[in-house]
Amino acid sequence: MASSRVQKIAPSATLQITAKAKAMKAQGIDVIGLGAGEPDSDTPQHIKDALYKAVKEGFVYYTPTQGIPELRKAIAEKLERDNKISYAPDKEIIVTPGAKQALYEAVLAIANPGDEILIPEPCWVSYEPMVQFAEGRPVFIPTYEKDGFRLSGEAVEKKITEKTRAIILNSPNNPTGAVLDGDALKAIADLCIEHGLIAISDEIYEKIIYEAKHVSIASLPGMRERTITVNGFSKTYSMTGWRLGYAAALQEIIEAMNRIQEHSISCPTSFVQKAGIAALQGSQECVAVMVKEFRKRRDAIVKKLNEIPNVTCVKPRGAFYAFANFSAYEKDSLKLTNFLLEKAGVAVIPGAAFGKMGEGFLRLSYATSMENINKAIERMEGALRRLEK
Ligand SMILES: Cc1ncc(COP(=O)(O)O)c(C=O)c1O
Repeated sequence: MASSRVQKIAPSATLQITAKAKAMKAQGIDVIGLGAGEPDSDTPQHIKDALYKAVKEGFVYYTPTQGIPELRKAIAEKLERDNKISYAPDKEIIVTPGAKQALYEAVLAIANPGDEILIPEPCWVSYEPMVQFAEGRPVFIPTYEKDGFRLSGEAVEKKITEKTRAIILNSPNNPTGAVLDGDALKAIADLCIEHGLIAISDEIYEKIIYEAKHVSIASLPGMRERTITVNGFSKTYSMTGWRLGYAAALQEIIEAMNRIQEHSISCPTSFVQKAGIAALQGSQECVAVMVKEFRKRRDAIVKKLNEIPNVTCVKPRGAFYAFANFSAYEKDSLKLTNFLLEKAGVAVIPGAAFGKMGEGFLRLSYATSMENINKAIERMEGALRRLEK
């Protein structure tokens, strides 16, 4: 029997849908998957080559828990170059097996039981369980379709109490594609400073951004010392299965995260870290090509979704998801997801998986071919028409 700690964590609705879609495919049913949380392009060759080389040279043993110094240095250079923040590679950066692990360690490192952690919603599925594992209390901040799911300082302020310890920010956002910038970012930073909060900034979609420019909250005055910046290689370099991420923060936080790693994962995979250096130091042309393609698909899918009667979809400014409101057809997004899978052969993710604020919405990943996107929307439209009758 699972521990009470684990029993508190709700099983994911996404897994249920993914399993059903897989089973249908295995039966030979033509299912178009718009559920993917990963780029559809291959990992760039120069990154693979760096891994092959490392393995050939016998770089196959435990590394320092915090990650190899050369990779930490490459990460520090990247943060200096892109985010204009200086971090000491030996003290203020930790390499992790994925951004997810870095986020989990960050929450564990700073939250005491009962601490409130603010989470803007709709939000990525793993933040709430992470806070629950740490015995903290997730406090959700609603964001709304009418505002383009933008988070405002006022909305954050309303949820701050004496118990608030941190806020988890995710820009560009999964699932909404909203980007945090300008006045909102400044207002949130001011609140963090005024109330002594830590910002855990999940910047995994930083490079997959369209009209906007990514601004790291740690670069705002007074925020470097109260931000844990988390990033990784999964989305930018199509490396989801490689499991490589990192965090940058003050020494005491990195030391705490390192202690967790020491007694759980030991170290990130040795040769994958070598590939990480190649990703950061090699040509970034691969990223530009991928983002250009994503932008084309985004424009197409958002247009098509808005053409479906009574469906609305805010244009996402980042990531590779369209988050569309289907509540005119069915308010229960899991029910609608099942319906679309069965009747249209299209797999999407129910908005409810991203919290209460996501109910009535569906998340459609456009990390798939334009042909699949066109076919999927056509089929969905047909099935919805039948639903109307
Ligand atoms: C918002 C967000 N953060 C973090 C992650 C995890 O990334 P990684 O593969 O580096 O663990 C994901 C992956 O889907 C994500 O969507």
